[in-house]
Amino acid sequence: MNIDTHLSAIVTGGASGLGRASAQALAASGVKVAVFDVNDTLGESFAAEIGGVFCHVDIMSEESALAGFEKARAAHGQERILVHCAMVAGGGKTVGWDKENGGYKRATSEGFARSMDGIATASYRMASIAALGMAGVEPLNEDGERGCIILTSSCASQDGQIGQVAYGAGKGAVNAMVLPMARDLMDLGIRVNAILPGTFATPPMLGVKEKAPAVYAGLEAAVPFPRRLGDPQEFGSLVMELVRNTYFNGQCIRLDGGIRMPPK
Ligand SMILES: NC(=O)c1ccc[n+]([C@@H]2O[C@H](COP(=O)([O-])OP(=O)(O)OC[C@H]3O[C@@H](n4cnc5c(N)ncnc54)[C@H](O)[C@@H]3O)[C@@H](O)[C@H]2O)c1
Repeated sequence: MNIDTHLSAIVTGGASGLGRASAQALAASGVKVAVFDVNDTLGESFAAEIGGVFCHVDIMSEESALAGFEKARAAHGQERILVHCAMVAGGGKTVGWDKENGGYKRATSEGFARSMDGIATASYRMASIAALGMAGVEPLNEDGERGCIILTSSCASQDGQIGQVAYGAGKGAVNAMVLPMARDLMDLGIRVNAILPGTFATPPMLGVKEKAPAVYAGLEAAVPFPRRLGDPQEFGSLVMELVRNTYFNGQCIRLDGGIRMPPK
């Protein structure tokens, strides 16, 4: 897809971290960007900074998502690009020792289901709403390309750590939806890919650096090369390549400095 000022994009979780870097990269190339997030303060100011529009969207809610797409399309026309970064998930060991009660406890089924909802169902929700809109517009080029969907998975989908059973399973479901979704949408000229980040220096990770510098140093040391956390701009750069390069389809790509996560 030729990246130019005719295109519009939606970036979920666009107020912070990897979503923000993706929105920044797209806007720098002239793409009109709608920032979907629940953080109104950050989202509003950032959208204004990049000349985009902010939409308060909670990815857990169908109603909220549909209203966000409507607002974004009213402002910028039909999006041709969706970058879905937001997620909602919890942690917890399948069975672990409960110090307070002095016995074993298990992570609840409700907690597991919420993570599946916040990762897998929300990814499907945002991707399918975007695809339905893209289906109704003219192709962009001689390949018949109509749009490009990028989902955010995680290396935890392949090497999930202790306490990541729900998160890893949710992200694994994202990987598993990429190929069948790309096949579902192939006749419409809509591509679907996912990025599996390793450890990136976004606000949640920078929080670890502040509170537990030794833990953060350990995270850096665990990356074979380069021996540091990923820069969100490196994620944004891959997003741009996935948009630009029409031959990328049905793919789950690790972006991780060669890391293979240990059990903990
Ligand atoms: N940072 C990493 O090391 C890393 C590694 C692997 C995968 N990931 C994945 O990358 C994605 C982005 O993570 P990040 O590190 O940039 O996090 P971040 O906290 O910096 O950004 C996440 C954004 O999502 C928004 N958000 C949260 N709940 C939402 C909801 N219900 N609806 C809409 N927006 C919501 C937050 O307000 C925030 O702006 C996530 O899917 C995460 O699983 C991150």
